[in-house]
Amino acid sequence: MTESDDLLAAAIAARERAYAPYSKFAVGAAIRTRSGAIYSGCNVENVSYPEGCCAETSAIAAMVVAGERSIAEVVVCAESDAPVTPCGGCRQRLAEFGRADTVVRAAGSQGTRARWTLGELLPAAFSLDNQE
Ligand code: THU
Repeated sequence: MTESDDLLAAAIAARERAYAPYSKFAVGAAIRTRSGAIYSGCNVENVSYPEGCCAETSAIAAMVVAGERSIAEVVVCAESDAPVTPCGGCRQRLAEFGRADTVVRAAGSQGTRARWTLGELLPAAFSLDNQE
């Protein structure tokens, strides 16, 4: 993953728009869909703390409102030493539109990078199969 990476560039641009006055932890996320389009999102916090939403959730909403529903790849970035991994709720939200082999990459400050599959982040994900 390099800084010329288009998906990372979109995540970084989104992070710059983050609204995180409470945590002061700005996060950006970008999704590449199977069609090749890129959608991005940032965290949007709220004075009523639980009402805030994560960058991944914002990016998913942007994708869905654009009429797309199939995630091929995700990048999440934050200014932390350790690359930020999607929270549990966002893993489930990503699983709604991704697959077990969907690649999720993370970028921290000072060039720290990580890479997983969605299946590694959310093994035994709850799915429609569990309801049948
Ligand atoms: N956050 C995200 O946007 N994505 C993650 O994957 C982890 C956490 C946000 C939520 C909150 O606004 C801030 O980071 C601190 O938890």
